[in-house]
Amino acid sequence: MAAKAASRWLHQHGREIQAFGTIRQFPLGLSYDARAYSCQRLNQILCDSQILFALYKKHHWLMRGATFYQLHLLLDKHAGEQIKLIDEIAERVQTLGGIAVGDPRHVAEITRVPRPPNGLRGSAGHASRLLEAHELILIDAHDAAKRTADQADDGTNDLIVSDVIRTNELQAWFLAEHLVDTPLVRA
Ligand SMILES: [Fe+2]
Repeated sequence: MAAKAASRWLHQHGREIQAFGTIRQFPLGLSYDARAYSCQRLNQILCDSQILFALYKKHHWLMRGATFYQLHLLLDKHAGEQIKLIDEIAERVQTLGGIAVGDPRHVAEITRVPRPPNGLRGSAGHASRLLEAHELILIDAHDAAKRTADQADDGTNDLIVSDVIRTNELQAWFLAEHLVDTPLVRA
């Protein structure tokens, strides 16, 4: 007789074991308040970065014109770097005992990056929109870095300074150089 197939407990939605916005107790040498504050600041940067990632992919797909190939590749490279950052930020929230924002609809409720038009615009508009998102994240990140350092959360400060700020600054530079009006062929 064939062995009875193992029972599967499908369609379980589970009961909530931690509410969003609350912090688990971890022995990290950081106060509850410091960890809660860092999680809130990190989740804001996480949401804005997830939208920036999506913006990069959108423009990677929609890009047209004489600079199509180089921008198509550059925007995908930046998207890949943002995805790496997003993972690091989310895992920092979890490390601190918080809950990282993951669902895109939850992200949409929190982000402050303006929604782009659904239709197609010129490539200068793509770069400007991306640059504005970078600057929004950078302004927030500088403030969050300073305030998390004030609360002795050096790990979060380091992540924001060494990864978030440096990556966004470098990507902003590469984008901004595409908005300089230089002739392509004639001097
Ligand atoms: Fe692609």
